[in-house]
Amino acid sequence: MAGSTGQAGEQGWSSRSAFVLAAIGAAVGLGNIWRFPTLAGENGGGAFVIVYIACVFLIGLPLVLSEVMIGRSGRSDAAGSIAAVAEKSGVSRKWSLFGGMEILAAFLILSFYSVVAGWTIHYVFVMLGDIVSSFQAGAPFGTAFQGETQDMITGRMGELFGNPLELILMHTAFMAITVFIVANGVHDGIEKAAGTLMPAFFVLLVLITIYGAFTGAFAEAVSFLFTPDFSLLTPTAMNEALGQALFSLSLGSAALITYGSYVGNDVKLAPTATMIAFADTGVAILAGLMIFPIVFAVGLDPAAGPVLVFQSLPVAFAQMPGGSWVGMLFFVLIFFAALTSSISLLEGPVAWVIDRFKLKRLHAALLVGGLAWCVGLLCALGYNVLSDVRPLWFWGIFADSDILDSIDGITGKVMLPLAALGVSLFIGWRADRRLVEAETGLSAGTLMLYRLIMAWIAPLAVLLIVVFGLFPGLL
Ligand code: PFF
Repeated sequence: MAGSTGQAGEQGWSSRSAFVLAAIGAAVGLGNIWRFPTLAGENGGGAFVIVYIACVFLIGLPLVLSEVMIGRSGRSDAAGSIAAVAEKSGVSRKWSLFGGMEILAAFLILSFYSVVAGWTIHYVFVMLGDIVSSFQAGAPFGTAFQGETQDMITGRMGELFGNPLELILMHTAFMAITVFIVANGVHDGIEKAAGTLMPAFFVLLVLITIYGAFTGAFAEAVSFLFTPDFSLLTPTAMNEALGQALFSLSLGSAALITYGSYVGNDVKLAPTATMIAFADTGVAILAGLMIFPIVFAVGLDPAAGPVLVFQSLPVAFAQMPGGSWVGMLFFVLIFFAALTSSISLLEGPVAWVIDRFKLKRLHAALLVGGLAWCVGLLCALGYNVLSDVRPLWFWGIFADSDILDSIDGITGKVMLPLAALGVSLFIGWRADRRLVEAETGLSAGTLMLYRLIMAWIAPLAVLLIVVFGLFPGLL
């Protein structure tokens, strides 16, 4: 097999739409359906959503364009591509350190991502079990969790957390599927998976949203998501919004540079990047409109935190006719979305290992997936055996975070913004102007705006948001 990257003909996407689908698959994931509603709920809704959207289009979209461009121009893994563009531009190859950090971030995110995705597999089985028992009871379209009280249902999450074996089993299953797909390569693995899973995902999303709109508290959800209360907009909330925008677009974590390295030279990057940003944001908002009507209809707390989706929604499924079916579809939906994202998380570090150590793709996928599995193991045990461990006990805002939350926090609030800062400074100040102009294909006016954003607006915004987010005492 040829090297991992750069051979657009041999290893690249088979068409532009294959790339767009894979990139949207990378962007749309747990970030949209689990993390976005969680953060919006915790940070008061409307105001958070506005800052989030501003971050996506002002900082995120130009960065998506930049990362894909770096990949296509550098034709290597995340670090190698930045080094190649630096070389073409006649500046130090050291800028590739930001690429290295992106690869590390991808590895760390993958480790906990797989654990959370494992919860979805667990709940798919729970729902399947319910469907079987409702068939046996002669009422195949009954509600889910029949005969259980609300406390029993929400308590199921605690039971899952208290069961390391189940957590590890599901985490292992998810990681194994991810490794299998990536081992099959760009064309036969990643592209095929995205081509099947993403259309199925969209159909399910629209179906469940329509269901929620008719049966849930839709108006309340709309007002929660779109009526801003700016008093809730703390520096920490803004840091969360920026981190979430980067996380959701798969920025700062090697995926877009690596996927970009497989893109043909004939593809116009600016419209493609715009499509990715719109699709990702659209899905996040739709996910909000899918989840909050149900949350409000059953009188649940929108600020329930990371358990919102997994703990609250089952309560709703227990009250709706055909609930076990809707529930199963819902968790299958999250599983699909998570899988196309975890593939992209694994691909970044794998491409680097193949390029750097000349390993076979299969071996690289097994090695990186195996190591990420080990870190994920610690995250899973952080809910039970290691529940007292606070890895970042010394750092104010992370002091009380368990292992999974610590890795999520340090990647989302620190590493991704730092990588975003590095990439914007690199493109804004150091990369060759003609190269940028030729690769982006932007018209003169848009190019000027793009440069302004990369050189000034994005770095300053990221810096301010991160510094005051991490050290709110400074304000
Ligand atoms: N964008 C994905 C999500 O929203 O779930 C997560 C992700 C994928 C982050 C790939 C980073 C990445 F490189």
